[in-house]
Amino acid sequence: MNKDLMKDIVALCKRRGLIYPSSEIYGGFANTWDYGPYGVLLKNNMKQAWWDSIVKSRDDIVGLDSAILMNPKVWEASGHLKEFSDPMVECKKCHTRYKEDLLKRMIVKAGKPVCINCGGMEFTKPKSFNLMFKTNVGPIDNKDNIAYLRPETAQGIFVNFKNVLDSTRVKIPFGIAQIGKAFRNEITPGNFTFRTLEFEQFELEYFVEEKDANKIFKQWVADRFKWYMNLGINKKNLQRKDHSKSELAHYAKAVTDIEYNFPFGWSELEGIANRGDFDLKQHQKLSGKSLEYTPVEGKKFLPHIIEPSGGVDRALLAFLVDAYDVDKANGEERTVLRLHPKLAPIKVAILPLVKKDAKLVKIAKDIYEGLKDDLFVEYDDGGTIGKRYRRQDEIGTPFCITVDSDSIKDNTVTIRHRDSMKQKRIKISKIKDFLKKNLK
Ligand code: GAP
Repeated sequence: MNKDLMKDIVALCKRRGLIYPSSEIYGGFANTWDYGPYGVLLKNNMKQAWWDSIVKSRDDIVGLDSAILMNPKVWEASGHLKEFSDPMVECKKCHTRYKEDLLKRMIVKAGKPVCINCGGMEFTKPKSFNLMFKTNVGPIDNKDNIAYLRPETAQGIFVNFKNVLDSTRVKIPFGIAQIGKAFRNEITPGNFTFRTLEFEQFELEYFVEEKDANKIFKQWVADRFKWYMNLGINKKNLQRKDHSKSELAHYAKAVTDIEYNFPFGWSELEGIANRGDFDLKQHQKLSGKSLEYTPVEGKKFLPHIIEPSGGVDRALLAFLVDAYDVDKANGEERTVLRLHPKLAPIKVAILPLVKKDAKLVKIAKDIYEGLKDDLFVEYDDGGTIGKRYRRQDEIGTPFCITVDSDSIKDNTVTIRHRDSMKQKRIKISKIKDFLKKNLK
């Protein structure tokens, strides 16, 4: 565990408006986080990159945005009411709860686990703990109106399978994709935004014929691995891990995780599952509605499902960790986020060298106005130029444009590259072309 690196990244996120602890003025709320002005831009860029690669660039996948609250029968059919639980033990002294399997890794004194919170060594017997958050719908709080905050977005897709078939022109193989919030009452959350109570998922359910399932499963594992690499994650920090039979979730026939080498060790970023026909079969059984697919030729059948399911917050954390770097600028340490330009919250910063020269300021403002409809651009005239560069480096801005007194004479500006810190002079009229080429 590289605790210092994690601490530095958490501090950078707070200092630069990427991620804040939630409800901080009230002392926070454990394991919940808020995305600040730059964090929300980064998150939106990442979600857009996923949507572009999964939905926009393909004609076999359509999008969906289903409700968080669903008929409780959904969770009966999906198996979540029965199976979505962790065995949990409680410290008899301070009542802190732990996942049973965590006990094995807790500091051992005289061969026994020790409570991290109070040092107690007596624990209750393991008890099953369902991870779904419950709420009540309507004014009366009783067991007949319980609803659950969805623990995955996938079920919203399965229950809309027939709607999508009936209202669009999709033909098997095809997929339905969705990005949305999910909630889990995790017993041992932690590691910043890695495991939280409330998080976003990007999930694709790809419906196939049984005979093609294995081949398509492997293709999705390869495609999703490439997606992370294409957005800048170093290949050496990514690996695949196949689940053994005993690790498989109740619905899965096969699962391969894509793992990232986080400062706290290799951990799951995304899981690609072959869910077989479990989901449609279950929903068909409990709803009494046929969910079979009728092909142009041949008999009706229940499609099998391949599911690449990723965590938005986890992916964002991996992109941050991978981009984080400390190097030297003019003999001083500088922190820089080497984010892929597609992900960078701000694409270019306009920095007038002085504030008081009206002509110079006008040129800088005109450049800003000319770019801001197409790109996220920031105008910053506060502090020394060195400090302004450092600030942009820390939020990952790929380019800074400096306007100085020469700009007035020859209509040129200095453009500085975040990673190399190299500067070059270009004509103002060439800025748009330069950015178009270099922000790809
Ligand atoms: N529909 C399948 C499913 O939900 P999962 O492996 O439980 O599978 C998919 O979750 C992804 O959601 C994980 O790979 C992870 O990236 C993310 N995820 C799951 N639990 C999370 C949590 N408590 N906090 C943040 N992300 C989480």
